[in-house]
Amino acid sequence: MKLARLISYLILLLITYTLGYLFASSSTTTSPCSCSSSSPSISPSITQITSLPNQLDHFRVTTRCADRPVEQELVRQTILDRVYNSTSPYDGFPPPHVRGLLRAKRIKGWGSYGAVFDHLVRRVRPRTIIEVGTFLGASAIHMANLTRQLGLRTQILCVDDFRGWPGFQDKFRDIKMVNGDVLLLQQFMQNVVAMNLTDSVLPVPFSSGSVLEKFCEWGILGDLIEIDAGHDFFSAWADINRAYRILRPGGVLFGHDYFTAAADRGVYRAINLFARFHGLKITVDGQHWVIDSS
Ligand SMILES: C[S@@+](CC[C@H](N)C(=O)[O-])C[C@H]1O[C@@H](n2cnc3c(N)ncnc32)[C@H](O)[C@@H]1O
Repeated sequence: MKLARLISYLILLLITYTLGYLFASSSTTTSPCSCSSSSPSISPSITQITSLPNQLDHFRVTTRCADRPVEQELVRQTILDRVYNSTSPYDGFPPPHVRGLLRAKRIKGWGSYGAVFDHLVRRVRPRTIIEVGTFLGASAIHMANLTRQLGLRTQILCVDDFRGWPGFQDKFRDIKMVNGDVLLLQQFMQNVVAMNLTDSVLPVPFSSGSVLEKFCEWGILGDLIEIDAGHDFFSAWADINRAYRILRPGGVLFGHDYFTAAADRGVYRAINLFARFHGLKITVDGQHWVIDSS
């Protein structure tokens, strides 16, 4: 009797195990693993999931945006008040302890002088530009010069943590470090001072995620927003989604390195997926992707 009960128990265990195994292996054929191939195309499993409108809610990045945007002429003062205790970061710059460590001008960028900047500044005639990823300011300074040539009163907000990336000093040994604090922000500011652009270019030195959330909350919108910070899929995806929330209606969102192979084509995959979600059209201008909301 005992033996019969033990055998039936073992049979039941075997059936349960086999069924579990069969269900698990059949579900892996549609799991997101199939979308991690090196191909940049969007796998059917992702589009299936996201074609359900209520699933898109999981991709929200913030729910706390201002009801009303800050007026264009108040954008600079709003940043000074909110970020710099109502003072200018350029007052008394450079401070004595870094003065001897900065170069008079040290500008280096990537694709920072592409024709896309001229095209977009002429077309949009932006009052507020938000740049996400500034480094030493090559592209920001270029845009500031373009707006100045057109006689525009544009503010350029440069969102960057000004930490570069781990190991960036291997290639930028001349950017000094003080007690582990790399002087990227200070060298950027020195470049802006050297170019006489302090009235139109303002650093916002925090991580892109936190700044873009705050901009939304404060009502800071951009007519032109450039994305050029982290190039892996998740960084680009987060920056693009957050930036789109603060794009002024009719404005243009654009970004560098559409074609780079860096981070397994992270930027390419992120912007393509984003455009597909929102039914937006991507155009390509040189090395940049462009989304025009007008
Ligand atoms: C490619 S560089 C920007 C180059 C600049 N647009 C140009 O053309 O001159 C990327 C910059 O993004 C910044 N960055 C990367 N990830 C960031 C993040 N999550 N938050 C803020 N800045 C970030 C780095 O510090 C770096 O300065």
